[in-house]
Amino acid sequence: YGDYNQKIDYVFKVVLIGDSAVGKTQLLARFARNEFSVDSKATIGVEFQTKTLGIDNKTVKAQIWDTAGQERCAIMALQLNLWGGLGHWYRAVTSAYYRGALGAMLVYDMTKRLSFDHMSRWLEELRGHADKNIVIMLVGNKCDLGSLRAVPTEDAQEFAQRENLFFMETSALEATNVETAFFTILTEIY
Ligand code: GTP
Repeated sequence: YGDYNQKIDYVFKVVLIGDSAVGKTQLLARFARNEFSVDSKATIGVEFQTKTLGIDNKTVKAQIWDTAGQERCAIMALQLNLWGGLGHWYRAVTSAYYRGALGAMLVYDMTKRLSFDHMSRWLEELRGHADKNIVIMLVGNKCDLGSLRAVPTEDAQEFAQRENLFFMETSALEATNVETAFFTILTEIY
């Protein structure tokens, strides 16, 4: 890190998608900087972070993109439409987000059933915009809140199997499976 002479063999773009507040930003913060924030602010627009790691003697730069959750995007689209004929601009931003992505994390909050029920919609949007060979992982975040669980592991496993996705339960708070989830996607892309 901070080593400007480091030779990068590959740059892999991975996108994070899922409802608002499921923990996308914190998963990224945990992976990229080993940080976590309790009062995480909602993401506005799009941001990305990179992390360089070694896979199989090659240097891979992971470029992870994080965007605002569904509700806010819908509101933004609505506002843009109200401003007059700018809906195409929103769609252009959406496709730019997915363009060139080789991996995707489909994140739900395991204590919020609705965020899991929305996974099929997110998957549809993803498959509509992304490369057909994209590596997708279903991620059930906040597994530290086990007593509040609203999505049984088997439900998620079944969905993942049916849709041909990798699956993992994570906690950005406790750093459970976060590295493993990103590493699995990156290794699979490689
Ligand atoms: P948007 O930016 O609105 O799309 O939300 P997001 O999906 O990026 O969620 P964010 O990372 O901002 O997290 C939302 C809230 O959940 C914050 O209060 C986080 O601290 C909390 N949170 C995130 N990950 C975890 C986790 O693994 N466990 C627990 N207990 N809380 C978490």
